[in-house]
Amino acid sequence: MKSKFRKSHSSYQEICCSREGTYVTISKRWKCFRIKHTRPCLLLCLTVVFFTIFMISTVIVTDETQYLLLSNHNATCKLPVTDPFDPNIMKYIFEPDPIVCSQFPPLMYVDTSGILRINQSTLIHYGLDLSCMYQSIERLNDSDIRFGPEVKLEPPVFLPNFYFRVICRNEKSKIVYDNLHFNFWWNIKNETKSFGVETEEDLSIFVFGLDSLSRSQTIRKLPKTFEYMTKKLNIYDFKGFLKVGLNTFPNLIPLLSGKHVEELPADHESKFFDNMSLIWNQKSMSQYATLYAEDKIEYSTFNMNKQGFLHFPTTYYFRPILLAMEKMKPVFVELFDKERNFCFGHTKRFQLQIDFYKTFLQRHEKKLRFAFSWLNQLSHDNINMLGNGDDSIREFLMWMKDSGHLERAILIFLGDHGFRMGDVATTFVGRIENNMPFLGIYIPTFVKEKYPGLHRNLVDNTRRLVSAFDIFETMQDIMHRRYKQNDANTVYRHSRGISLLRPVHAARSCDDAGVPEVFCACYQTTSLNTTLNVVQIIAQFALDSINKLLKPKSQICAELSIRSIREASIIPSTLEKANGVYDLIGNLFRTKSGISGRYIILIETYPGEGLFEVMIDYENDQKMVLVGEISRLNRYGKQSHCVKDSSLFQFCYCLDLV
Ligand SMILES: *[C@@H]1O[C@H](CO)[C@@H](O)[C@H](O)[C@H]1NC(C)=O
Ligand SMILES: *[C@@H]1O[C@H](CO)[C@@H](O)[C@H](O)[C@H]1NC(C)=O
Ligand SMILES: *[C@@H]1O[C@H](CO)[C@@H](O)[C@H](O)[C@H]1NC(C)=O
Ligand SMILES: *[C@@H]1O[C@H](CO)[C@@H](O)[C@H](O)[C@H]1NC(C)=O
Ligand SMILES: *[C@@H]1O[C@H](CO)[C@@H](O)[C@H](O)[C@H]1NC(C)=O
Ligand SMILES: *[C@@H]1O[C@H](CO)[C@@H](O)[C@H](O)[C@H]1NC(C)=O
Repeated sequence: MKSKFRKSHSSYQEICCSREGTYVTISKRWKCFRIKHTRPCLLLCLTVVFFTIFMISTVIVTDETQYLLLSNHNATCKLPVTDPFDPNIMKYIFEPDPIVCSQFPPLMYVDTSGILRINQSTLIHYGLDLSCMYQSIERLNDSDIRFGPEVKLEPPVFLPNFYFRVICRNEKSKIVYDNLHFNFWWNIKNETKSFGVETEEDLSIFVFGLDSLSRSQTIRKLPKTFEYMTKKLNIYDFKGFLKVGLNTFPNLIPLLSGKHVEELPADHESKFFDNMSLIWNQKSMSQYATLYAEDKIEYSTFNMNKQGFLHFPTTYYFRPILLAMEKMKPVFVELFDKERNFCFGHTKRFQLQIDFYKTFLQRHEKKLRFAFSWLNQLSHDNINMLGNGDDSIREFLMWMKDSGHLERAILIFLGDHGFRMGDVATTFVGRIENNMPFLGIYIPTFVKEKYPGLHRNLVDNTRRLVSAFDIFETMQDIMHRRYKQNDANTVYRHSRGISLLRPVHAARSCDDAGVPEVFCACYQTTSLNTTLNVVQIIAQFALDSINKLLKPKSQICAELSIRSIREASIIPSTLEKANGVYDLIGNLFRTKSGISGRYIILIETYPGEGLFEVMIDYENDQKMVLVGEISRLNRYGKQSHCVKDSSLFQFCYCLDLV
């Protein structure tokens, strides 16, 4: 455009100036004068104006805050349907090795009145001439506990301690039993707090969650549990439950507080969570006995790179037991040190947490109870391991139902996101699964019968776009006994959290539901040939974006290059350009290799063989915007050992490894 302009300018020059001096008549001179001065002036002025506009538009175009609006993010959600047994995934799915723990069952148990007893049927393994001691466990903080002094123990006996360690020696003074026990009845004689009672209107709330549990993963790896939930418990199985954050923390904060992580105090990582507006701190929860249990000291939600809690967050807290487990080696007849990852002596670690949950339910039977349990270990690291939990989890649900704990309670069984890393996450289907965690909700039959509108809403909502914000609102409705308003004709759409007992609008969008654009699975994509010019340009842009992040650490992290473009796809024709007038003019100067839209590409880089999924809004070859965070889909292991900044772990390949 610029060069055309110059060309026309010079042609005017030719007409006038080449003949300068050859015109004689005044009129001709005047004409020449006009040509010579006015036109160039006009042209000069136009040039200046045009150039200014061009400059302004360039400034606007390169301003990354000028975000492109996507109508898919603000349009009716088209829920993707993926096959849990998609062949691209099934090649990574197999039966895991079973978890084999100590064959010797525990010597003692705490009965349902809090008395520690010897299990006569296991005594034979341990010998008859035993002398036992116990040590209380004192919580110091979220990182440490202390074992009290050894005190002589002669069961059966009631110990006034919540958690304690039991050590028994045989006649040769050899330790044959070293185990942890908990006693939920320790304060029964001196209970200071009385909890509300369950009624037909006041229901308990039981939450049971597993890390990295997508709906498809539930169907694949917890088939018995899934069948029991859908066939026997008649849970509502939500097919449009989307995650709202990358990993566990940003998904559990909305669930437990109704807030996005960004809405927490900015310094939340350096503060204790005791005073934050988590559900168990709400006034309406004061009538409930509460429990919070989570496994894996190092990944637990409130402790990973965070301060955790100063005091017990809930009436009952599992973490001190976990800390105690790290400070001792269990002995069940002999020292049990194998399979330490998944076993604690005779008991599988996840089973220990389930037992803790069960005992809590027994301890406050028929009282108002709120329980929140999150299991990480079984489902987080290895996509197949979860299969080892199917029987135990189903048994737990059966036990809850058969012992009447679900008569006046709702159960929320869920995941936070799908499997985020490793082979499955690199497949197209796996990446959709990643955005679609499992959510199943059980409501007692009498509630459904009493409030048929509520049942209808829940059924409809299983096919709507819903998120963790809605679960928070659902729990609020339960805690405030709001069952009746829900037959009203109001259809909720634009509030971020909508109780699932109420009608959620069919045209709800990710934007409405608080689902960020990058995790919005509500679109149809078209896959592209990776050799397309536009794909190459976008891949280069993605790589440049990564290298830009690494730039400040270029002394220690390698600059990355593209090894291959694995996949590319576009969400076509849904892009509404945020065009201003200047922008339109600016675009005339830009070359385009492809159509505007949101592109998703998967690139492999080297060194380090990183696989990255990047979402980019493409308008033309100079105007591209990175959407959301870049996700690394395979593990980086120790590649980034040289950096401390956790935001660079997935990108940095330390130069000392090259
Ligand atoms: C989505 O639509 C709502 C209602 O029309 C509007 O208020 C909101 O700004 C829109 N959001 C985006 C990102 O376009
Ligand atoms: C006692 O041990 C047996 C054998 O392991 C076990 O089946 C039983 O459940 C135990 N009893 C209690 C009350 O823990
Ligand atoms: C926890 O308590 C122990 C012992 O009192 C102390 O050494 C440690 O620094 C504390 N940790 C934190 C994170 O406060
Ligand atoms: C009961 O609790 C109070 C206050 O915590 C304590 O001082 C007292 O020793 C307890 N009594 C018994 C029998 O445990
Ligand atoms: C919580 O708030 C109370 C009252 O403001 C304060 O005394 C306490 O220190 C706070 N606790 C934590 C762990 O920050
Ligand atoms: C992609 O395009 C190249 C070159 O045009 C062609 O050779 C190749 O077969 C195409 N691949 C697919 C999967 O269509």
